[in-house]
Amino acid sequence: MSLLTIDGLRAGYGAGDVLKDVSLHVDEGECIAVLGANGAGKTSLLRAISGLMARSAGALAFGGQALPAEPCRVAARGIAHVPEGRGTIPGLSVEENLLVGAYLQKDKKQIRRDVDEAFARFPVLQRYRRRQAVQLSGGEQQMLAISRALMSHPRLLLLDEPSFGLAPKIVSAVYGALQGVLQERRIAVVLVEQSAELAMRAARRAYVLKHGKVAGTGNAAEMLHSDELRQMYLGRDAERA
Ligand SMILES: Nc1ncnc2c1ncn2[C@@H]1O[C@H](COP(=O)(O)OP(=O)(O)OP(=O)(O)O)[C@@H](O)[C@H]1O
Ligand SMILES: [Mg+2]
Repeated sequence: MSLLTIDGLRAGYGAGDVLKDVSLHVDEGECIAVLGANGAGKTSLLRAISGLMARSAGALAFGGQALPAEPCRVAARGIAHVPEGRGTIPGLSVEENLLVGAYLQKDKKQIRRDVDEAFARFPVLQRYRRRQAVQLSGGEQQMLAISRALMSHPRLLLLDEPSFGLAPKIVSAVYGALQGVLQERRIAVVLVEQSAELAMRAARRAYVLKHGKVAGTGNAAEMLHSDELRQMYLGRDAERA
């Protein structure tokens, strides 16, 4: 069943639309990849979904109801956004960052369980729980940003280039943990990545954005293993990205 449906989305930063016509859907518990060159509109798409960017046209439905435009209402509906460049609050400790992610959760025992779960998933976060987020390495900050988003028990997670700037070993750790959580909790994901290979291994389907429009879509495994499809959908743009 479709969890998020986007039909004819247009959005921009004031001087013309950056997203010119985007239609896609994400099923319950499904991970989709959004690929495309620099400037294709991937980050803008996530921002338009979470309400951080004004939508000028299009219909967005989430869980069968219209998706609100205000970021706090979108979050309350169960969409968590891990932005580009991580989403941690630099001056707060690791533990405080996690608690911020639980701001809608009223049950204190549940919050404690969720913090413990985050620590079990990424033991390094427990070790550094009193350190300020700014003192963490890039990989640790990414682990914290994802853990913080999971604290809100989202139905949909928006991830903007979680592998950006990380060493391959750290990328594997982050993706390994992420896939574990997604399977356990059946969270749906919109995964934006520069690396098509990486994203398509994690996702079931992929959409390719080009100049603010969906240029192609398909089954991720088929796209990954077909030279023809890779060339057609990703071509040189993906290499440049
Ligand atoms: N704050 C902004 N104000 C005006 N234009 C912007 C702003 N942010 C992005 N843009 C423009 O919107 C277009 C899409 O940018 P966006 O960041 O969504 O692309 P992207 O696919 O995420 O790129 P990247 O791979 O570099 O992260 C680009 O042409 C960019 O220059
Ligand atoms: Mg981007």
